[in-house]
Amino acid sequence: MEVVILPPEDLAMEAANVVEIQLRRNPSSVLGLATGSSPLAIYQELVRRHREEGLSFAQARGFLLDEYVGLAPEHPQRYRNVIAEEFSDHLDWPAERIQAPDGLAQDVPGACAQYERDIKAAGGVDIQLLGIGTDGHIGFNEPGSSLASRTRIKSLAAQTRKDNARFFDGDLEQVPRHCLTQGLGTISQARHLLLVATGEQKATAVRHLVEGPVSARWPATVMQWHRHATVLIDEAAASELELTEYYKQTYASKPAWQGL
Ligand code: F6R
Repeated sequence: MEVVILPPEDLAMEAANVVEIQLRRNPSSVLGLATGSSPLAIYQELVRRHREEGLSFAQARGFLLDEYVGLAPEHPQRYRNVIAEEFSDHLDWPAERIQAPDGLAQDVPGACAQYERDIKAAGGVDIQLLGIGTDGHIGFNEPGSSLASRTRIKSLAAQTRKDNARFFDGDLEQVPRHCLTQGLGTISQARHLLLVATGEQKATAVRHLVEGPVSARWPATVMQWHRHATVLIDEAAASELELTEYYKQTYASKPAWQGL
């Protein structure tokens, strides 16, 4: 696992570089998309590169990590709508090339199994963008999630509903209680995991992710098993780490050819 500690604006540049290199190498790459605040600066930078530098998403495929259960099709917080609003509507990325778990499915297990098949049929995810919850979730794999889990329904933890109430006018009652999420096993099959976290409120989860034991108690720790995982954090999110100086020196002295 590589830990990169930089100011927030530089983190977005680094992540955008990874996505751009991938898309220029293979325009039909498969991108795994996170929602929430963490990837927004990355999405804005990619939109800029599309507009000003011709970076194209036209042939790419996209798979969202997760979706709330029960939000109406036009609800602004439905993750499919959030991604369109914040990202894909500003690109040359046809909507039908981006998929999300179906939070309105009648047959929930069937829809989750189909989502897994769709990811596989697309060739698997090349780059999976991730944020981390204050309770250590990735996707919506809350504490206790099986490290081998696949796409399924989950109950959102009280902490996550509280954290996400800011997207629902601060009204906890409006935050759904259930979600569909790619499992930790599903996420682990992406070829490159790229997690971004900023701010002091993420410091404890980041400490467990990077330096804690692998445990379902802190689901993001499954990333320690991954062969290509990058953790992009600012100083505040890194503030509880022990080996900060080592991570900084390693990044500063990387061979130029290596990339992230
Ligand atoms: C969202 C998702 C979540 C968020 C996490 C952090 O698709 O999968 O794991 O990444 O809750 O959210 P923010 O970035 O809003 O702090």
